[in-house]
Amino acid sequence: MDLPTSTRITVTPTGASLGADVSGIDLSQPVDQATFKQVEDAWHEHLVLRFRGQQLDDPKFLAFARKFGELDKAPIHAGKLVEDPFPEITVMSNIKVNGVSIGNLGHYEAEWHTDMSYNDLTPIGSLLYALEVPPSGGNTGFSNMYAAFDTLPADLKRRIATLQCRHDSSRNSAGELRKGFKDISDPREAPGAIHPLIRTHPGTRRNALYLGRRRNAYIIGLPLEESEALLNELWAHASQTRFAWYQEWKVGDLIMWDNRCAMHRRDAFDPESRRLMHRTQIKGGKPFFDPATVAA
Ligand SMILES: [Fe+2]
Repeated sequence: MDLPTSTRITVTPTGASLGADVSGIDLSQPVDQATFKQVEDAWHEHLVLRFRGQQLDDPKFLAFARKFGELDKAPIHAGKLVEDPFPEITVMSNIKVNGVSIGNLGHYEAEWHTDMSYNDLTPIGSLLYALEVPPSGGNTGFSNMYAAFDTLPADLKRRIATLQCRHDSSRNSAGELRKGFKDISDPREAPGAIHPLIRTHPGTRRNALYLGRRRNAYIIGLPLEESEALLNELWAHASQTRFAWYQEWKVGDLIMWDNRCAMHRRDAFDPESRRLMHRTQIKGGKPFFDPATVAA
């Protein structure tokens, strides 16, 4: 039986606004509490962690992810086995077997977003592990929403402190209409959860700009033109390259990101090449803004 042994990890920041490499840890082995605490502290500080050169089967991948909390079940899709032995794993892939996709999202670009912000309860974070990568393309970008919030003008911070945004649930991150949803052209009619524009991270007590995704977003209570203008201003600010870092995937990379304070996107890639990733998602809670974090 493998017994956990305490490890001193090495954390090397990317030098960009967020992200760090973690080395000196083999995630196929049990991770003890002292080592886990170092990883969690690094995650809170850097928002996105990369562990390179890992060799994980699904049970080992899930065992590491479960250290962070209960995991969400993966959504059902056409290629998913009915008798799935690992229901918490979502396959992200463009690969087809006998004409049926084995995974989600295909080869398309995914726009900036945070996962499942259109739900009332939103995941804490996600872990993505690379099994096959295309020779080029398919990079994943991450963006630091603490930094985006911190650098807003003071009057804009004050203005958005009381505002809430509705996050459209009708389309996925590639912009495709989900099954069973109506094609919406007026953002005021879009379905989806309502969350504050400023989100307080329960672990760090820092505030982040919480935008979710742009399409069909609507700021509750504002005339449509005003909501559109404010969202355009916030998105133009948040999408600046100075807040972003891009992951160029290698087989064996495991990336984990914090959905409470980081957005992500993905570049498209050649549909003829193969990309296969396993993803799992840590169950979360209701996003909130604590005004005490900006008092005085
Ligand atoms: Fe995503």
